Amino acid sequence: MRTALKMVLPLIVSVAVVSGLFAWYQVRTERRILRSDLARRAEILGESLQESAEPLLDHAPNKNLQKLVERFVEREHLKGVAVYDPSGKMLAITPGIATAFANWPSVVKDAAAKDKEEDAFVREKRVDSDGKETSLTLHIQACPLHRDNELAGALALFHDTDYIDVQVAHTLRDSLVNALVQTLLITGLALILVRWTFMRPLSRTAHWLRTMRTGTANGVKVLPGLPQGQGEIFDQIHQEVTHLARDLNTARAVAEEEARLRDTGASLWTAERLRVSLQNKLHDSPLFVVSNREPYMHVMNPKDRSISVLVPASGLVTALEPVLLACNGTWVASGTGSGDRETVDRNDRLRVPPDHPSYTLRRVWMTDEEDKGYYEGFSNEGLWPLCHIAHTRPVFRPEDWLHYQRINRRFADVVLQEMEGTESPILLAQDYHFALLPRMVKEARPDARVAIFWHIPWPNPEVFGICPWQRELVDGLLGADLIGFHIQTHCNNFLETVDRALEAITEWDRFAVNRQGHVTRVRPYPISVAFPENPPTEEEELRNAGMERAQICEELGIEASLLGVGVDRVDYTKGILERFRAIERFLDQYPAFQRRFSLVQIGAPSRTDIERYKNFLDEVTAEAERINAKFHSGRWKPIVFLKRHHSHEEIARYYRAASVCMVTSLHDGMNLVAKEFVASRVDDRGVLILSTFAGAALELADALLVNPYDICQLSEAVHSALEMPEAEQAKRMHWMRRAVREHNIYRWAANLLSDLTEIRIETAERTEAPQSQ
Ligand code: G6P
Repeated sequence: MRTALKMVLPLIVSVAVVSGLFAWYQVRTERRILRSDLARRAEILGESLQESAEPLLDHAPNKNLQKLVERFVEREHLKGVAVYDPSGKMLAITPGIATAFANWPSVVKDAAAKDKEEDAFVREKRVDSDGKETSLTLHIQACPLHRDNELAGALALFHDTDYIDVQVAHTLRDSLVNALVQTLLITGLALILVRWTFMRPLSRTAHWLRTMRTGTANGVKVLPGLPQGQGEIFDQIHQEVTHLARDLNTARAVAEEEARLRDTGASLWTAERLRVSLQNKLHDSPLFVVSNREPYMHVMNPKDRSISVLVPASGLVTALEPVLLACNGTWVASGTGSGDRETVDRNDRLRVPPDHPSYTLRRVWMTDEEDKGYYEGFSNEGLWPLCHIAHTRPVFRPEDWLHYQRINRRFADVVLQEMEGTESPILLAQDYHFALLPRMVKEARPDARVAIFWHIPWPNPEVFGICPWQRELVDGLLGADLIGFHIQTHCNNFLETVDRALEAITEWDRFAVNRQGHVTRVRPYPISVAFPENPPTEEEELRNAGMERAQICEELGIEASLLGVGVDRVDYTKGILERFRAIERFLDQYPAFQRRFSLVQIGAPSRTDIERYKNFLDEVTAEAERINAKFHSGRWKPIVFLKRHHSHEEIARYYRAASVCMVTSLHDGMNLVAKEFVASRVDDRGVLILSTFAGAALELADALLVNPYDICQLSEAVHSALEMPEAEQAKRMHWMRRAVREHNIYRWAANLLSDLTEIRIETAERTEAPQSQ
């Protein structure tokens, strides 16, 4: 109550002052009106008396004149009337004022002197019969009197003005009472309003903040929820504060983790460690990333033109986002969302992530024709099958190659534009879409440190030699100071390709290529995910796999006591058909698992404008339907094919609910689904079936490693996974989690960027200096 009173005190004072001023103004106006009213009445009376008195001015003393003045004495508020001759001698006067005004007052004298009506309010001092002095305010109306057009005297009317003071006093009293009542009412209402509208939500917010800060309520560790529905402004404040509090909590968790790691002597890479390390290494030179796929896509609903945000299904995006979040910078990518143009500024930039802006996304545009040639054609019908060797024939069209070159140039120009004004910038180019870009950037900015990371496999030189423009591609890549692949085999394949395709010195002993004096290092950097370091929340601890599974089955309308999960873009390299066929064989071989086990296949439709992909999507759908038709029974079916894009949060639920996760790629650079599944199993349960043809197999040796072309082996692996004792699951998962945790995305970025920053750049001014490596 005291706080509320303090809050409304300025209001009370203001209301009181305003009401007081208003009362004063009212009183002043009232007095002015009453006085001018009196003056007007006196003037009229004076004029009529003037006419009656002038003919009687003959003799003095004049009885008729005396009678005339006495007749008027009864008038309201009229104190008396007097008539004077031009010398000021009284000719007639009413008795009440005879003593006080025996001589004419100055205003009457003035009227006679100026021969014009005058009036004045005068204060008269009087001594009564007891000798007591009183004062009286009078209004005197003076009119000159004439006889034969000559001034013959003056007439004076004396009005008592006391009644004006009385009336004004009443008005003053009423106004003050009004002001008081108003002040009290407004204060009361303000108090109620402040208490209900502000004090309650504010004190709840304060309580919530305290709990958030200390992380405890009544001694129990909690992360309190946001008090909602207290009014728009409070909800906004709450939201802002939640972000702030979340940041503080994260910072606290990071600091605790850092301290813990220092204490145990472990060397783990965290977002914070990466940030600090890069700050030291980069000396504030900003980080630039260029990739074809953007991390946030804005999609416009054609019906109501509302725009929503989508995180595309891309291993590259999954991996790079945490790096950008850790070190700010600019990510250049193609704007392919239908609402992308609506959401950028006039420089085609925007800050992302949308609800926690931390770095800049610069969008680059291309026409449908360019997209068809560069993205669909050369990148995805040419390089993708070429590098994956998944038995889809690569297609190389000369017109696609032209588009590929043109778009590489466009992106290089945008990158160079973004780098303007930056000394020794660092560029991390991404993937097979930009093989030509490193040289383009390096030629214009020799001071830039340029790395390119190839996210897909690099095949052997015979296979790569199929590409009619292999020389140009390899030469473009060799413009970089550093080329990264997931695994050593890809590095070896690349060096062999260089050997065959170009004039260059391949230095096998230090894994470098010297082409025309410029040295490019070639190294393996196994990409990864951000392993969540925060301890599981109370909610996560409560929600076990069984509960999650039951809920998912309910949502999907199926009955199954064991779930498997597969998460892929629907791509012919992912071995989805092989996976389905292995499930069919498994159910044939082990019928006891029928009506018990279902595989949920999350399949994000991908590159569907390409014939091969469209057909493949149909093939996968048909295969799932065929197998389901063969086995389904009641509410159970062996395969649930969820043919749509799912967010990371949605996918995480399936990972947690599954007994087994199937990654059966026919060939894959790394495959981050395998690592995401492992990272999400805080309960140390679940089995990973992993293709030996995925780069991840080298690090996740505790998965059940399979050859996806071998359907029998794959089906046996499903059986082993579902029969695996919990202790063994826990042991395997423990080791896999350790591997992913230690080799997380921050370590990937730290190794790559640290190697890049250690490279000595030989710019024009320093060409004489010896090479460091
Ligand atoms: C792979 C590639 C990425 C690509 C992703 C999704 O992971 O290495 O560069 O972004 O597939 O493919 P998309 O064509 O949809 O970008």
